[in-house]
Amino acid sequence: MKGILLAGGSGTRLHPMTLAASKQLLPVYDKPMVYYPLSTLMLAGIRDIMIISTPADLPQFKRLLGDGSQYGVRFEYRVQPSPDGIPQAFLIAEDWIDGAPCALALGDNLIFADHLSLSLQHAAKRSSGATVFAYQVRDPERYGVVSFNEQGKALTVVEKPTDPASNWAITGLYFYDHRVVDFAKKVKPSPRGELEITDLNRLYLDEGTLQVERLGRGCAWLDAGLPDSLMEAGQFVHTIQARQGMLVGSPGEVAYRMGYINADQLRAHAQRMIKTELGRLLMQLADTVPDQS
Ligand code: TTP
Repeated sequence: MKGILLAGGSGTRLHPMTLAASKQLLPVYDKPMVYYPLSTLMLAGIRDIMIISTPADLPQFKRLLGDGSQYGVRFEYRVQPSPDGIPQAFLIAEDWIDGAPCALALGDNLIFADHLSLSLQHAAKRSSGATVFAYQVRDPERYGVVSFNEQGKALTVVEKPTDPASNWAITGLYFYDHRVVDFAKKVKPSPRGELEITDLNRLYLDEGTLQVERLGRGCAWLDAGLPDSLMEAGQFVHTIQARQGMLVGSPGEVAYRMGYINADQLRAHAQRMIKTELGRLLMQLADTVPDQS
């Protein structure tokens, strides 16, 4: 399976911070925001990842992330000339996807959960249909909302409903089968002039192959698109790391635990930021956790 990290957009709700910098490169506590969804894709077992951003911001992503070899994965980069909607990513990446199944993670979405890697890897291995994740929120009208029947099967998906049928929002992490590019081509622009991911999900729902995994109480899903949620995300990461001494959203850690890099590669990676707590924790990891590579 391939994975797209979509990190374009205009970030107007974070002006003036996003006038000169990409939203997805802003700090969430001690890491750039994009590290979190990148770690999620890598945790799903995905090692071919395309990063899509605006023409102005893409060079900064390349500078930060390189070709992926430091994490034992492969990064490709491509421009989205204007923010015409999330499913456009599949059209931009069509030749690279080349008929493979493909996941998509939004660059400003952070998911934390126990046993997350198991459900991610399960979603990545499903051979047909689509898998999305839903999370209960207090303000569903800001999101794509899914409703369920009594058996817990998804009934409807609606983008930013004024009168939401449930409080289950669909998070910015999507797994699609090999037909995703064909399905994305069928999506027509919405009244606001964008291709909507909810319309792509509805195509799978209508044929009965949309699997919706509900994230429970023990999970946190944050989208860092507003000043308050950006600060809350940073505080959340800080709380867990300070209290448990465990890293959250570190692609270096994921790469090591998944066996993509060996202990020496992790040490070299950690050495580059050894003046930070992040660097020290990664070094400790190389010394204490057995090499899986
Ligand atoms: P949004 O938060 O919907 O849009 P935005 O980032 O432009 O922010 P704002 O509403 O404040 O102007 O986008 C969600 C994520 O998807 C975000 O990480 C940006 C990304 N995105 C793209 O990369 N391209 C697109 O065409 C769209 C619509 C979103």
